[in-house]
Amino acid sequence: MTTESAPGTDASDTALFPTMVLRGPLPEPRQRRRIPARLLITAWVVLLMAAVLALVTVITWRAVDAKVGERVDRALNQEIGEFQEFAQAGTDPESGAPFTDVPTLLSAYLAHQYPDDSEILFGWVGDAPGSAHGTGGPPADGDGRIRQGQEPPFDLSAEPDMVAEILGAPDARGRTQTPAGTVEWQRIRVVLPDEGADGWFVIGYFTQEDREVVASTTGTVALVSAVGLLAAATAAWWVAGRVLAPVRLVRQAAAHITEEDLTRRIAVSGRDDIAALAEQFNSMLDRLEGAFTEQRRFVDDAGHELRTPITIVRGHLELMGDGPDERREVVRLVTDELDRMGRIVEDLLLLAKAQQPDFVRAAPVSLAELTSDIDANVRRLGDRDWRLESVAEGHGDLDAQRVAQAVVQLAANAVRHTEPGSAVRIGSALDRDHVLFWVADQGPGIPAEEHGRIFERFSRGGGSARGDRGAGLGLAIVRAIAEAHQGRVDLRSAPGAGSTFTLVIPRRKELA
Ligand SMILES: Nc1ncnc2c1ncn2[C@@H]1O[C@H](COP(=O)(O)OP(=O)(O)OP(=O)(O)O)[C@@H](O)[C@H]1O
Ligand SMILES: [Mg+2]
Repeated sequence: MTTESAPGTDASDTALFPTMVLRGPLPEPRQRRRIPARLLITAWVVLLMAAVLALVTVITWRAVDAKVGERVDRALNQEIGEFQEFAQAGTDPESGAPFTDVPTLLSAYLAHQYPDDSEILFGWVGDAPGSAHGTGGPPADGDGRIRQGQEPPFDLSAEPDMVAEILGAPDARGRTQTPAGTVEWQRIRVVLPDEGADGWFVIGYFTQEDREVVASTTGTVALVSAVGLLAAATAAWWVAGRVLAPVRLVRQAAAHITEEDLTRRIAVSGRDDIAALAEQFNSMLDRLEGAFTEQRRFVDDAGHELRTPITIVRGHLELMGDGPDERREVVRLVTDELDRMGRIVEDLLLLAKAQQPDFVRAAPVSLAELTSDIDANVRRLGDRDWRLESVAEGHGDLDAQRVAQAVVQLAANAVRHTEPGSAVRIGSALDRDHVLFWVADQGPGIPAEEHGRIFERFSRGGGSARGDRGAGLGLAIVRAIAEAHQGRVDLRSAPGAGSTFTLVIPRRKELA
C-alpha cells in the first residue's frame, strides 16, 4: 500500500487529503512454457521408434540392392565363362569341324543360347560402328551384328551409337542407358588365329525390373514401418496418459488446496511409484490439515484467554469510585490483571516459538552449576521449605536456559498448590541414558484421569487452587521444552500424596 497523489488534483489539496492508492495484485511472474509430460514421453517414443525403423528400412534396401548386384554379376560372369569355354574348344559341336571364322563361331554359339527375359546376347563382327576402320554405313557382308532370335527388352545391338559406346569403352564391363532402363554389360573380344576379321561377344543385363522389385520391397517395409510408428505413437500416448493420470490428479488437487479447504485427497489406486506419490501427497495434506487446525485452535484459545483479563480490567475501571483509597485499590487490581495478561502473552509467544527449529540450542553444560542456578531461582518463588535433594555430576548436552525455565514452571506450580512452609524437593541426577530434573511437592496431588490433560494448552486441573487463576500454559511449555530436547515429562501423583514432575532428557540425542 502506498500513499500517492492522485493524478489531476491540486497539489495543495493533495497535501491535505492524501489519496490512498491501493496497488492491484502484482502481475503473475512470467511462467515458463511447460511441455506436458505425456507429449514428451510420446515424442521420445516416436523419435526412437522412427530412428530404429528408418535404420531397418535402409538396411533392408541396401541388402536387397546388394542381392540384385550379385545376381547381375553372376549372370554376366556365367555367360562370358560359357562363351569362353565354347570358343576355346574351337569346334562346332554339331559338325565337329573346327571354326574357321568369327561370324560362324558367334552364330553357332548364339543359336544354342536361351537368355532370360532381362538379358541380351549379341555378337559383333568387324570394327565398331563409327570407328576409324569402320565403314560408317551399314556393315559389310559378314560384318556387323549377329543376334539370336529371342526379343530382349530393348535391342541395343540395332543402335550403332550404343554398340559404339559398348565396344569403344575402355573397360570390358560397364553400363549404358537405354529406353528400357539401365543395361549392365560385359564384352569379350573374339580373335581366331588364322582369320583376319575378329569380333566381339556382348552380354547385357537389364536391371530395371530388379530395381523395381527393390523399390517396391523397400516401399513395403517403409509403409509397414510408418503404420507401426503410428500404432506405437497411439499406444505411447494412451499408456503415458494412463500412467500419468494420478499425477494429473495430484496437480489438480494441489491447485484446489487453499487454507480454507484442506480436505481434498487423491484416490490412490495401484502399487507403482505414482501411487506412492499420491499417498505421500495425501499424508502431507493430513499433516498440513492437522497443523492448520491446531493453529486455528491455538488462535481461538489465545483470543478467549486474553478476553477475560480485558473484561475484568474494563469492569474495574467502569465501576471505579472517586475515593483515593478505592482508586488505589483499582489501580492495583488493574495492574495485577495487566501483569497476568503480559505473562500470558509471553507464554503464548514462547509456545509459538517452540514450533521453530532453533527453539532449543543445545550445548555442553555443567549439570551441577545448572542445578544450583535453578535452586537459587526457585527459592525466590515463595516461602517454602526448599530442599535440594541431589545434584548431578558431569555434563549434559542441553539448552540450560530452557531447562531452567521448565523447572521454574514446575516449581511455580508447586508453590501455587502448597501452603507456605510446605516442603518442596528439587534435584537433578544422571542415569545411563538420561539427565533428570525433578520438583516434588506435598500438595493436593492430581487425580490419574487428569495426568494427560493438564499438559495441554489452557487446561487447568479441576480441583486445584481456585483463587489463583493460572492460564494453563505452564505445563504445555514444560512439555514443549522436553520434546524439543527429544525428552518427556514424567508425573507421579495421586490425590493426597503430593506430586512429582520429572523432566527426562536423553543424554545423547539427535536434536531436531
Ligand atoms: N504441583 C501441582 N499440584 C497439583 N496440581 C497441579 C500441579 N501442577 C499443575 N497442576 C494442575 O495442572 C494444571 C495445569 O498446570 P499449568 O502449569 O499448565 O497451568 P497453570 O499453572 O494453571 O497456569 P500457568 O502455569 O499458565 O500460570 C493446573 O491448573 C493444576 O490443576
Ligand atoms: Mg503453571
